[in-house]
Amino acid sequence: MKRERPFVLINMAMSADGKIASANRQLISIGTKRDQDHLLKLRTTVDTVMCGARTIESGDIIMDAGGKKYEQLRISNGLQKQNTRVLVSGSGTINPTSKIFHNRNSPIIIFVSKKATTKNIEKLKKVADKVIVYGNKTVSLGRALKYLYQRYNSKRLLCEGGGELNFALIRQGLVDELHLTICPRLLGGRNSPTIADGIGFSQLIKSTRLQLTAQKLIDDELFTTWKIRPKSD
Ligand SMILES: NC(=O)c1ccc[n+]([C@@H]2O[C@H](COP(=O)([O-])OP(=O)(O)OC[C@H]3O[C@@H](n4cnc5c(N)ncnc54)[C@H](OP(=O)(O)O)[C@@H]3O)[C@@H](O)[C@H]2O)c1
Repeated sequence: MKRERPFVLINMAMSADGKIASANRQLISIGTKRDQDHLLKLRTTVDTVMCGARTIESGDIIMDAGGKKYEQLRISNGLQKQNTRVLVSGSGTINPTSKIFHNRNSPIIIFVSKKATTKNIEKLKKVADKVIVYGNKTVSLGRALKYLYQRYNSKRLLCEGGGELNFALIRQGLVDELHLTICPRLLGGRNSPTIADGIGFSQLIKSTRLQLTAQKLIDDELFTTWKIRPKSD
């Protein structure tokens, strides 16, 4: 059966103890400039970049192509100069003054659930290109991906976190590949976010299984790629 959604990749940089931010949850570069370049190069292979509400508020994030060099790469990869940008916020509480809304280089689509108030939806409509209500308490991510595939011709989508959104996608079997940079640091913190948070799988048997498909050690930074095994595997 034809898959009616984009191929979904997740890219994350984590400390050796599995954290993606420090305890204050502010955006930090855990990786080096090389890791940043790795992320921007991955973006040059996708139509759409997506992230969760708390990530977009954790720092000055724009989610665009990242400059002329990467725009050129996108064009030579047969893609639009800029990627479409997608945000997910069940409650629709994304701060409308977030930096992403100051950059209008490419469409910004926000998925919210029925939990979002009309007031919040109206606020977001003023700063985004589209606000779509899908799902009751949480956003129906399967429907959201299908919409992006059908309406925005999104063949490949890169999710850039955070842990809550990643896990919601993983739990529903909506992720195909994981790019994980393991950085030579320990961050600690019982409440510091990890690459996959949310409610978690209750038993090992229910966990998502991975297959390591590539690894590259540069200095002390380990770049890894994992295929997500289908549940039936
Ligand atoms: N190191 C890295 O590579 C990296 C990358 C990205 C982020 N980060 C860090 O990760 C942290 C943020 O991660 P996080 O896990 O706290 O937040 P997150 O995943 O960015 O956002 C969580 C929010 O997204 C919305 N959401 C996620 N899944 C949803 C669903 N199925 N339906 C409806 N809404 C959904 C909810 O918004 P509402 O509450 O509005 O409903 C939820 O509260 C920050 O510290 C950030 O700096 C690190």
